[in-house]
Amino acid sequence: MAITVKVQVPGTTANCGSGFDAVGMACTIYNDFELTLTEKPGFSLKVTGEGAGAIPEDDRNIALQAIKLVFEKVGQNYQGIQIKMHNRIPLARGLGSSAAAIVAGLVAANEAAGGKLTKQDILDMATQIEGHPDNVAPAIFGGITVSTVSGDKQNKKAHCLRFMPDKLLNLIVAVPDFKLSTKAARQVLPEAVPLKDAVFNISRVAMLIGALSQGEFQHLGYGLEDRLHQPYREKLIPGMQDVFKAANKNGALGSAISGAGPCLIAFAEGNTKQIGDAMVAAFAKHNISASYYELSIDPNGAKVIS
Ligand code: HSE
Repeated sequence: MAITVKVQVPGTTANCGSGFDAVGMACTIYNDFELTLTEKPGFSLKVTGEGAGAIPEDDRNIALQAIKLVFEKVGQNYQGIQIKMHNRIPLARGLGSSAAAIVAGLVAANEAAGGKLTKQDILDMATQIEGHPDNVAPAIFGGITVSTVSGDKQNKKAHCLRFMPDKLLNLIVAVPDFKLSTKAARQVLPEAVPLKDAVFNISRVAMLIGALSQGEFQHLGYGLEDRLHQPYREKLIPGMQDVFKAANKNGALGSAISGAGPCLIAFAEGNTKQIGDAMVAAFAKHNISASYYELSIDPNGAKVIS
């Protein structure tokens, strides 16, 4: 007998400006993931949609690695594995495509193996694989998450506070037509930052979380400001400041790099089309073609569909 589990996982936007490596948000863009376990030995993995042809369909696949990790931990009796990934989250753009793949693999494998792992177990395992929790946490729990990590490199424990604003917040994500790996976007960051910049970010991120949790979105403009990573990453994203200015001029409450970029995200209450069009036009002035998504916050996180 075979068993099939279908899972849907949201994309995520990490950092939100000031919350570098700590804050994340689940977004209403989803990857579909199907895991079938069979008694007959065999293996197949097929990727369709975003990343088809670029994502490995063998042992290097990160979702497959996540599945194997679950089975090592909880055991299972099947011999064959078939995986189908249908992706809508663009690859290497700052919308959490790798976190979505890891979480999909962990959640699907856990469900197929009898659901022994808790969401906290899944968060710890996902953080171990991804290296940081700010994308995997919202992909698991949905909503907005603040995450911290304790423990050493081999035994990371993630701690996550999750909340959901009671008002609609529009997320307009401009997607430029080039990829940027997280690794490359981290290589431009300094080893140390001036104390005044650290203090600047502490006040901004406190404002950010207060504004989001209280639904006082008028404070988001300041809350999104950052001096820890965006100034250093600006050179990797041509036109970044002009895109921010275009979004804000057209009614956005504030804007930031989505994750490690190169997507740029504007936060708004309405005016989404004007903001998205203006962001794309600003990129075009720097000879970068772009498109945009009009999203909002996904409240659910990874869901087992069947
Ligand atoms: N917090 C991470 C970074 C997110 O900015 O490098 C990458 O997905």
